[in-house]
Amino acid sequence: MPDWGALRAEFPLLDRCIYFNACSLGPLPRSGRAALARYGQDWDEQGTPVWFTTWLPLLERFRGRVAELLRAPAGSTAIAPSVSVALSTLATGLPLPQGRDKVLIGELDFPTVGHQWLSRPEYEVEFVPSHDGMTIPPEAFAERIDSRTALVVTTHLFYTTGYLQNVRAIADAAHAAGALCVIDGYQTCGCVPLDVEAMGCDAFVGGCLKWVSGGPGNAFLYVKPELIPQVRPRGTGWFATRDPFAFTLQELTFADDARRLETGTWAMACHYAGLAGLELVLEVGVDNIQERLRDLTDRILQRCDAAGVRTFTPRERELRCGIVTLECDRPEEVEAELHAAGVIVDSRPGRIRLSPHWCVTEQELERGMDLVITSLSPPGEQSERRG
Ligand SMILES: Cc1ncc(COP(=O)(O)O)c(C=O)c1O
Repeated sequence: MPDWGALRAEFPLLDRCIYFNACSLGPLPRSGRAALARYGQDWDEQGTPVWFTTWLPLLERFRGRVAELLRAPAGSTAIAPSVSVALSTLATGLPLPQGRDKVLIGELDFPTVGHQWLSRPEYEVEFVPSHDGMTIPPEAFAERIDSRTALVVTTHLFYTTGYLQNVRAIADAAHAAGALCVIDGYQTCGCVPLDVEAMGCDAFVGGCLKWVSGGPGNAFLYVKPELIPQVRPRGTGWFATRDPFAFTLQELTFADDARRLETGTWAMACHYAGLAGLELVLEVGVDNIQERLRDLTDRILQRCDAAGVRTFTPRERELRCGIVTLECDRPEEVEAELHAAGVIVDSRPGRIRLSPHWCVTEQELERGMDLVITSLSPPGEQSERRG
């Protein structure tokens, strides 16, 4: 196991607050801060040649590290500015089966997944219901896949409940009926070991903002190598072509590899930080981070049970990772109160969401949970509980 105490020193923000919101914005590591300074220095010292000496090689390294994170073959990963853009590229570009117009999406998926296909009148979107408000069994997807289903899209881990889906079962059901399967793994990148080939999905989107601590602007996507030659996004850019520096205005030849999913000039500052976060997480080991987070979320669930706080996260260790959500009738107020007390959490309608960073100590976790539980109590009961 890594030395969590030593690693904690890599995240100065953790000395200033109790950080229970790593699934939203991971804290900046020292290496990321240094990388951002290096970005300014490289640009300032070199001017235009920096593209060839440093920036294009850095992007290639970033794509390679993403492939390592996803255990994806070389050439099957591409960079995107956000997960929404990555999904948009897939929505227009994937070779869906002819004559089918239905897209299945989970009722607990992140809104951008729904919006992506609801914005396209050529598709009928069906939402797979959750009967307990927390999980959706793979069978619920399987039952709704029919001869009209072109695509199943869902998230790997639900952002409001922390439930980890069995992606393999969902992808197998889609394929058995001739449909494709896209997985949004933004909430599992950096906290659940990934293997896109074992998952069996046709495409995967994710990014470095959350558990990878790489900051915004660092989303990415993967497409199964055998599908890549058939992917033709509608709406593209010169950096998606085979040879951007041939400047062929009147001809469009897509790159042979996943670079065909990219578009124009990259926001380089973001990728300096993204790469630093990604390399740190790969060095620590995502399997280690997963175990650590499951221990921390175990303890959060125990504390909630002991205090009589209702939670919406599975008890089974293998069905969750870094998120626990708690019932709360005034989430925004509670979030603000906790912020003022030095505990960073997130609120969602009717809920407070806790996602401790993997370097939060046991003592901090207990102290943070004391404050969370006190804040959740109706105002009149707070002093009683504090005592
Ligand atoms: C699972 C999931 N997918 C997609 C998004 C949206 O990503 P973006 O803002 O990069 O489009 C989020 C944002 O938190 C998310 O949690």
